[in-house]
Amino acid sequence: MPAFTAAAPGKIILFGEHAVVYGRPAIAIPVQAVQARAVVQADVNAPRGSVRLISPLIDLDSPADALPPQHPLRRAVELTAQAVGASRIPACRIRIQSSIPVAGGMGSGAAVSIALMRALSAYLGKPLIADQVSALAFEVEKIHHGSPSGIDNTVIAFETAVVYTRGAPIQPLPLRLPLHLLIADSGIPSPTAQTVGEVRAGWQEHPEPYERLFDAIAAIVHQAVQILQQPAEPATAAPEGLLPYHTLGDLMNQNHALLCELGVSSAELDALTDAARSAGAFGAKLSGGGRGGNVIALAEPSAVEAIGRALQNAGAKRVIYTPVG
Ligand code: PMV
Repeated sequence: MPAFTAAAPGKIILFGEHAVVYGRPAIAIPVQAVQARAVVQADVNAPRGSVRLISPLIDLDSPADALPPQHPLRRAVELTAQAVGASRIPACRIRIQSSIPVAGGMGSGAAVSIALMRALSAYLGKPLIADQVSALAFEVEKIHHGSPSGIDNTVIAFETAVVYTRGAPIQPLPLRLPLHLLIADSGIPSPTAQTVGEVRAGWQEHPEPYERLFDAIAAIVHQAVQILQQPAEPATAAPEGLLPYHTLGDLMNQNHALLCELGVSSAELDALTDAARSAGAFGAKLSGGGRGGNVIALAEPSAVEAIGRALQNAGAKRVIYTPVG
């Protein structure tokens, strides 16, 4: 019996995190440089219904039904079996691997769920489409985050840049302006459920200033959408060709400042954004839930190396360079 393999990319939020939980739009893009991968192999020696989950990354090797009912991988298996109408599935082993930083704001949880759902549904003879895996992964995201906006599962399942608004149909964002992004992992886990909870508590106590911050973030997202859809100038090195990058960089800096006001940055993330800017980045901001996780910086191709070094000197544990668009 052949093995069924599927992968799913990581993601970053370019603009709009946190405000997206409150109905404002956000821009997210898939990052193919990091991936989660699932391999499903039939287990001819085990009884029907037996599913063994193996994930060296989290030191897991266990029958799915021996895990707690709310374990994200067990839920992902059960939701997939339900979606394809399989009550007792032919015995199998599911091996999960991932190069996406865990709790780094790069969608590791959603990518693992989606890779698993794709591989398992193919093994069961009914491969699920993007819409279906996105909806199922959203259910698993609730275990991780409590009240997720749905942005992670959407951008990862559809593998396209999106302008995401909670509850609205998915809006792909064709990126006509090529971007050179550096993603710097602070090495500090991003406690997304905690930062989302703190913002909610603040908003419940003083809704007005929070609504103003969310509106200011939404205005940045709208401007960024316009710029990202502009075709690139033929000679991007000419000063007028760089103008959209300077504007986007400014918008990233402004978005970061608003996230600081929301209270979701940290000294470590601020040090990384400062270092990227001092080394010549057009702009930089935290990406995702904040406090820990990743910072992203927009660079000119010739400055990528210097900015990468500066980020490492400022404490980044890993820097990923990703050209987009
Ligand atoms: O999963 P993370 O850390 O990339 O954060 C998701 C972005 C938030 O807007 C903070 C939460 C959400 O559900 O949209």
